[in-house]
Amino acid sequence: MPRRILITGNWKMHGLRSDLGFFEALTPIAAKAGAEVLVCPPASLLAAAAAQCAGTEIRIGGQDCHTGQSGAHTGDVSAMMLRDAGASHVILGHSERRQEHGETSILVCAKAKAARVAGLIPIICVGETLTEREAGRAHEIVGAQLKASLPADAGAGVVIAYEPVWAIGTGLTAAAEDVASMHAFIRSQLREPAATRILYGGSVKPENAAELLALEDVDGALVGGASLQIDSFAAIVVAAKQ
Ligand code: PGA
Repeated sequence: MPRRILITGNWKMHGLRSDLGFFEALTPIAAKAGAEVLVCPPASLLAAAAAQCAGTEIRIGGQDCHTGQSGAHTGDVSAMMLRDAGASHVILGHSERRQEHGETSILVCAKAKAARVAGLIPIICVGETLTEREAGRAHEIVGAQLKASLPADAGAGVVIAYEPVWAIGTGLTAAAEDVASMHAFIRSQLREPAATRILYGGSVKPENAAELLALEDVDGALVGGASLQIDSFAAIVVAAKQ
């Protein structure tokens, strides 16, 4: 079965109830899209967004979860809670979580296991820093992150997102040949390579989406900044068709 393109919006710490009109505008675009469409709003909007998207082609996801399903963990949200609120996916190990919260690949792996137990599809993020790339260590770093972040039995039920840290929110995008080479490398490391989706993330915008999505091993995009405006996100969803 061919891998269906997955366009994912990552709103990060953006979005208020007054922004929920985004989903109404996205509904007809997602209905006609040649790709699967997923938006990950902040946890505070998840239930409202999921309720609004019920019966549409838009899927809703979380941006992180705890390793446990419940317990005394003030401020945390479990995978089961995300599922209960209407999420189908959860982003895990985003570089902002790795950097700002000291998340290790071992922790990301435990979160991925919790997500799968709760019936969520984990989107596991990996990516090298600029220093690591310049030192010629990009493949080594990403390979090590993948090995430690992916549950040993994880097959096509997980999604991988390759996000070079230096390309996130900077307007810089990795060169097409570097993306192609890294995605092929990631695929070679997977248990079910042919069926597992690998997304690219890092300054994806309407201007570069078609070129990136046309690469053989790129099965979708993880979009930050450009997912906050309906026009730019819709343009990326549409680009996935061509
Ligand atoms: P960006 O973020 O599109 O704003 O670079 C991508 C991400 O962090 O997922």
